[in-house]
Amino acid sequence: MTIPMKIPMTILVTGGTGFIGSAVVLQAIRDGHRVINVDCLTYAAATESLAAVADHPAYAFAQVDIRDRTALDAVFAAHAPDAVMHLAAESHVDRSIDGPAAFVETNVLGTFHMLEAARSYWVSRGKPADFRFHHISTDEVFGSLGETGMFDEDTRYDPRSPYSATKAGSDHLVRAWGETYGLPILLTNCSNNYGPRQFPEKLIPVTILNALAGKPLPIYGAGLNVRDWLYVEDHADALLTVLTRAAPGATYAIGGENEARNIDIVTAICAILDDRRPDHAPHARLITHVTDRPGHDARYAIDPSRIRADLGWQPSLTLEQGLAQTVDWYLDNADWWQPLQDRAGVGVRLGTAPVAP
Ligand SMILES: NC(=O)c1ccc[n+]([C@@H]2O[C@H](COP(=O)([O-])OP(=O)(O)OC[C@H]3O[C@@H](n4cnc5c(N)ncnc54)[C@H](O)[C@@H]3O)[C@@H](O)[C@H]2O)c1
Repeated sequence: MTIPMKIPMTILVTGGTGFIGSAVVLQAIRDGHRVINVDCLTYAAATESLAAVADHPAYAFAQVDIRDRTALDAVFAAHAPDAVMHLAAESHVDRSIDGPAAFVETNVLGTFHMLEAARSYWVSRGKPADFRFHHISTDEVFGSLGETGMFDEDTRYDPRSPYSATKAGSDHLVRAWGETYGLPILLTNCSNNYGPRQFPEKLIPVTILNALAGKPLPIYGAGLNVRDWLYVEDHADALLTVLTRAAPGATYAIGGENEARNIDIVTAICAILDDRRPDHAPHARLITHVTDRPGHDARYAIDPSRIRADLGWQPSLTLEQGLAQTVDWYLDNADWWQPLQDRAGVGVRLGTAPVAP
């Protein structure tokens, strides 16, 4: 029997100052929950993303590294969360090729410390059945698809990059803590996210900002790699739906049912910018093919039938709508992205020439 969740909840969100985490924090507060954001503020964090809630009585921030068990215990004791949404991670595949150690440290070891801190807290409270530890993961743990087929909740794990291998490791730890210790876990594997407040090192913001600056638009290899794309606010909605309604132990694959080749994404952004900034059209003249990423997965696609059938969730935006909203957000929010362009590694091609360990 599923124990009904206490709503509103006090939710401990890790990585809440990042791209997806900030969308989750903003929506959770809109939904009436209390949020404690645990984030150590790496290069990928953007505190401005949470400016709208920084002084909200339902929001609290703890600058804590998830590898610091003592500090985690103090956060759990001070805030007594009803649930954890664990998003903190090193998330950029190219950086994982150049420097895998940070990925093992945060994604594997950090998740271990989160699980142990959560388990200790949960046991100390008498193992409440309505506690949840929701681990947010990626479809990249399933490897690479050919031209047909889709990932779903039963797909065999086959990670191929240091990033996806460390996320796979964290997924296994979370399931083991559910099976072995009875911790009420939830696990979601989502496809590529895009939308407002994405750090300017990922394909879509890089393309928008380089096009605005008249710089080359780098396409890895032929640009034929296919991804399924989900608007970040639709992902945040899916995550809060799973947290509040799914049975403990459940896994869901989350996707936007929006497959596109990288070259088509870049071309679509160019077309939107041709409309918004006709003076610089055609932006597609800036497209430049560069050396491919080593081990670049060919295709990801998600079959989201289970989350639709069980929880009635489906994405609200098409890729065309979401891309137009995203381009407009970057056009309107230079104050958000300009300072981030000075951070280490931004605007530099990473992941092609790994140094010896
Ligand atoms: N971006 C995507 O397309 C995508 C898709 C599916 C799943 N995910 C998963 O969703 C989660 C969030 O992804 P994102 O794109 O928002 O990442 P992001 O890189 O934008 O943000 C990560 C956040 O975690 C924080 N963080 C990193 N290491 C930390 C540590 N040791 N202690 C505390 N905080 C730390 C950073 O400061 C940052 O605020 C990740 O777990 C990622 O694997 C991402």
